[in-house]
Amino acid sequence: MKKEISGKTKIIGLIGENTENSLSPLIHNQIILKYSLNFCYLPFQVAETDLGEAIQGIRALNVRGVNITFPYKEKVIEFLDEVEESARRIGAVNTIVNNKGILTGYNTDVIGFKKSLQDNGKFVIKEKKAVILGAGGAARAVTYSLLEEGIEEISIFNRTLEKAKKIKQNLSPFPPKSSINIFSFEQNDLKDKIKEANLLVNATSVGMASQLNNTPLPDEKLFHPNLLVYDLIYHPAKTLLLKQAEGAGAKIINGLPMLVYQGIESFYLWSGLKAEGKEILEMIRQIT
Ligand code: ATR
Repeated sequence: MKKEISGKTKIIGLIGENTENSLSPLIHNQIILKYSLNFCYLPFQVAETDLGEAIQGIRALNVRGVNITFPYKEKVIEFLDEVEESARRIGAVNTIVNNKGILTGYNTDVIGFKKSLQDNGKFVIKEKKAVILGAGGAARAVTYSLLEEGIEEISIFNRTLEKAKKIKQNLSPFPPKSSINIFSFEQNDLKDKIKEANLLVNATSVGMASQLNNTPLPDEKLFHPNLLVYDLIYHPAKTLLLKQAEGAGAKIINGLPMLVYQGIESFYLWSGLKAEGKEILEMIRQIT
């Protein structure tokens, strides 16, 4: 049953530079509807110069919490009172919880990636080898997730080698049986690393709806049937990378499950309610 907005309604929402095309309002309001909760999730489009005031506004207006999206996941940290350990090590916050005026930052992308890989990719991370394309905020969360679950080897390829270096530095020391290699795209190692890998993650923005005919991996011969290809992009649902990987017999997964699972985890931090991932994902798939 739909709960009407009342004086008791708790406000949650999304802060980003451009929130118009975000699926987060849809995901959260579907959870609210399904579980008849007295919450309301709103998009807040905020200019960079207003970010500090917007965060202060969370306290002033007694907003329960917000998600933080592009391009503020890193910049927002300076305005918070506390940052949970994984978010601090990754250097990015995607969720803020307001407890009586104390703002704490979390990164639920870590658990979102892990859960989607396990549930939708049926993938066991321990002792596997992964190649990650990209070294931005999303790549950092993915790398952290994989290390936490005992991956054996991660090879990060990025256009700007310096950023890949930084991930390695910031996330060390690694668990004893894990290692990270870093490469620029120009290096020839990509072929060898993909050949040995069980998982390939695209954490670059190449292939998004604005550039449908682009792929971060033009050589189709590199895919193989033992590879799970995970594109963090969810719009389009099937990027050129995923189409080519599927054509070569690799398993594929897009970014929607991760988006839904990170949302469920954020919602849990605000409300204490853990929504059923598979059901919510199916609902979102049907609507979008
Ligand atoms: P996010 O928060 O989604 O990770 P980001 O931090 O801006 O976003 O990172 C975007 C990633 O896509 C980066 O790894 C970026 O490479 P650089 O570090 O060299 O900038 C990568 N990327 C974006 N456009 C690219 C392109 N045309 N070719 C290769 N990599 C690209």
